Amino acid sequence: MSERSACAEELKTSRLRLRRPLAADVDVILAVHSDPEACAHNPSDALTRHEEAEELYRRWDRQWERHGYGYWVVERHDRARQLGFCGIKPMELHGEPVLNLFYRFAPSAWGQGFAGEAAAAVTAWAAAHVPEIALIARVRPANAASQRVARRAGLSRATHLDTEGYDGFDWIYVAQPERWAR
Ligand SMILES: CC(C)(COP(=O)(O)OP(=O)(O)OC[C@H]1O[C@@H](n2cnc3c(N)ncnc32)[C@H](O)[C@@H]1OP(=O)(O)O)[C@@H](O)C(=O)NCCC(=O)NCCS
Repeated sequence: MSERSACAEELKTSRLRLRRPLAADVDVILAVHSDPEACAHNPSDALTRHEEAEELYRRWDRQWERHGYGYWVVERHDRARQLGFCGIKPMELHGEPVLNLFYRFAPSAWGQGFAGEAAAAVTAWAAAHVPEIALIARVRPANAASQRVARRAGLSRATHLDTEGYDGFDWIYVAQPERWAR
């Protein structure tokens, strides 16, 4: 993969606009990542201080600069208020390069299908623009909502790939099961 293989600073779905994060989003990055409910299954992602959110924003921005994609801020078309974040990050799974699908929304936005809609758009974008890297999601076994979102995005369970993660054992979902045949 070339380092800036594809650039998609804005994606659109029927209700949502996904855009590259800006420095002005640090406050909402902190608000979502300091909400105990939003990090209940992934406490290693929790933030408490503004400086931590600034550093996280800088990491996200560096990934955008390097690869031309990353985590998007998710908003409704008709309102500027940020609902949450959804995107992909290059990492490794069992020694193979993968794109890890991420989503985290403010609890006030849950239950309206926004995460599933955003995750489906990101998965379709990755399949079209970064097809050489397999897309996966790592989900904590008790995180039923996240499992539903992975399925909404078209991913399926790959039990033979399950592995330890930062917060304990992760269930693995994959977008292209044929790439991971046992
Ligand atoms: C996971 C998360 C993004 C889902 O957001 P959401 O906007 O409520 O998701 P959606 O409205 O698109 O709902 C997705 C599905 O999950 C289901 N769902 C929502 N909450 C649920 C719960 N507590 N238990 C079981 N199912 C649940 C919905 O009914 C829906 O099911 P469907 O696809 O059959 O219609 C949100 O809960 C969140 O931000 N959680 C904290 C961060 C997190 O855990 N991220 C994942 C890390 S791997």
